[in-house]
Amino acid sequence: MKKFTKALALVLSALFVVGCFAACSGAKTEKEKLTLATSADFPPYEYVDGENYAGIDIEIAGKIAEKLGRELVVENTDFDSVITSVATGKADMGMAGLTVTPKRQESVDFSSNYAKGVQAVIVKEDSPIKTVDDLYADGVTYKVGAQISTTGAIYFGDDIADKKTTCTLEQYQTGAEAVASLTTGKIDAVIIDNEPAKSFVKANEGLKILETEYSNEDYAIALPKDAALNADIDKALTELINDGTVQAIIDKYIPAE
Ligand code: ARG
Repeated sequence: MKKFTKALALVLSALFVVGCFAACSGAKTEKEKLTLATSADFPPYEYVDGENYAGIDIEIAGKIAEKLGRELVVENTDFDSVITSVATGKADMGMAGLTVTPKRQESVDFSSNYAKGVQAVIVKEDSPIKTVDDLYADGVTYKVGAQISTTGAIYFGDDIADKKTTCTLEQYQTGAEAVASLTTGKIDAVIIDNEPAKSFVKANEGLKILETEYSNEDYAIALPKDAALNADIDKALTELINDGTVQAIIDKYIPAE
């Protein structure tokens, strides 16, 4: 009987020690964070789905965080703040269907490219605008909408400044607001990336996407200039591209037609 009590005491103290270790290491393994700046207004790349953020960029970011052993924290902001959040180091990275441009490269670094983007033009089904060239025809006065600070807005704004077009540009906080303005007839066209264009056209009656493309672009992750984490993020992304994970995520959100 005494033996038994002794054995029990031993087992109990062993359990106590194990329990202590588990509790202590539990506190220590709280993961470091990986902060993602995005603008969740851009389906299928990033959008709000009930309580959660969803989309191609969000999932790729999740996989990168997994590889780095960090916890992904999504910081949703206006699109024109994404680059600033990254440039000031507030966020570890920015993913927002973000096009690589020389101007942006002045304030942030970019990872490898992970997707292609095409700027498309949305018009009403019965619009006199039949091709992108119609926006550049002599003396036309179409009102063209785009999300503020996007490449669509920047390039069209440049063309207006360079007197290549006599159209005017209306800038909106989100692509959805630009599209809403198009449906109510306040503007004549919206320039936006092709995949969001498809999802907005699907969600609204009476709109179509022009066959002709406005421009071709590369999407990449924006990174704070020379940040210590950049190489690890890019390595993780490259592995995810090479093993087909990125393509599988894209295919899930953009099924082949
Ligand atoms: N690709 C375009 C750009 O980089 C549009 C991106 C808009 N993204 C967004 N999440 N609203 O300017």
